[in-house]
Amino acid sequence: MSSSFGTLFRISTFGESHCKAVGVVIDGCPPGLGLIEKDIQVQLDRRRPGQSALTTDRQEADQVIILSGTENGVTLGTPIALQVANKDHRPKDYTNMQDIPRPSHADYTYQMKYGIRASSGGGRSSARETIGTVASGAVAAKVLKEKYNIDIVAWVSSVGEIEAETVAFDTITRSEIDKSIVRCPDRTATEKMTALVTELKDLGDSIGGTVSCIIRNVPPGLGEPTYEKLEAKLAQAMLAIPATKGFEVGSGFAGTRLRGSQHNDPFIRKGDRLGTETNNSGGIQGGISNGEYITLRIGFKPPATISLPQDTVDFSGKSAVLEAKGRHDPCVVPRAVPIVEGMAALVILDMALRQEARKAFQFKK
Ligand SMILES: Cc1cc2nc3c(=O)[nH]c(=O)nc-3n(C[C@H](O)[C@H](O)[C@H](O)COP(=O)(O)O)c2cc1C
Repeated sequence: MSSSFGTLFRISTFGESHCKAVGVVIDGCPPGLGLIEKDIQVQLDRRRPGQSALTTDRQEADQVIILSGTENGVTLGTPIALQVANKDHRPKDYTNMQDIPRPSHADYTYQMKYGIRASSGGGRSSARETIGTVASGAVAAKVLKEKYNIDIVAWVSSVGEIEAETVAFDTITRSEIDKSIVRCPDRTATEKMTALVTELKDLGDSIGGTVSCIIRNVPPGLGEPTYEKLEAKLAQAMLAIPATKGFEVGSGFAGTRLRGSQHNDPFIRKGDRLGTETNNSGGIQGGISNGEYITLRIGFKPPATISLPQDTVDFSGKSAVLEAKGRHDPCVVPRAVPIVEGMAALVILDMALRQEARKAFQFKK
């Protein structure tokens, strides 16, 4: 099991879906940062279940408590422990799934790996685990904003076959995105997505989608080639989110259809640095940020737990029909938006701190 992430800004998350609480310990947060619960709660509210008719009906307030690492609303440089209670769990909903591993969920693989698993709620494979990521990501994002003016915005760019129109990268904001119940800035697409997700929720089925993310004002120089190239670290972080199936940076897979002459990003002068005219690179070249916007797209599968009957087998191999009970997300992408933002903040801050350490230690020329 590996529940820790990051080198200088290091987080360790804990908790299962139906235990007493979930949370995170952050080691390496710089001292002197103003930090109160409200700074973190905003992002947890955007992640929480039961927030709209399109998400799971599990009702959790997800109120965060800062247990340590701050005094009078300021970080001390010591470990920051953040905790969120689990309240609305209904283990009985899972009784018919104890003997039958849910197709495409993690019941079978957890059982094979550990020889034991949490008896309900998916244990650690549940998306409740992402509370730690979102909470620590909100802290990282605050450091990034105050120190470098870096900001990170994610949104839903597709649900099933419905694609959003291109977004204005310079101006898009979280509050603009939150005007849409699916967190898609395109109004026409929002209506179609809402109708589709509602229909599938009523049917007891589910659907996948994509989340796009932009990271603005990242200085050139972040990323640690070879094995911790910036895009490699971002890919690792994003693919650690439950239900992710794909990761793209810049032109992504569409770029594979282009010629070099079409795909290259010519350099131009931008103030005191070189910039690029186009941004097919997605702000990263050679595993290092180049100062342009970092652009990402993450693919999420349809959630596995559906209440439609599915032919499968139980743990002994005997034929079975599974009709999942309980409350589940018909589509995870609206709630995945703050998780993607949190993961992005964790990676960028860790890389920024590592680059600061390198810069501070340079020999004079
Ligand atoms: C925000 C969010 C909510 C999720 N909600 C559900 C859910 O209600 N039901 C479900 O089966 N999976 C849900 N998932 C996905 C599962 O946690 C995930 O599919 C499962 O752990 C198996 O892991 P894998 O899909 O990464 O292989 C959710 C994922 C995210 C990011």
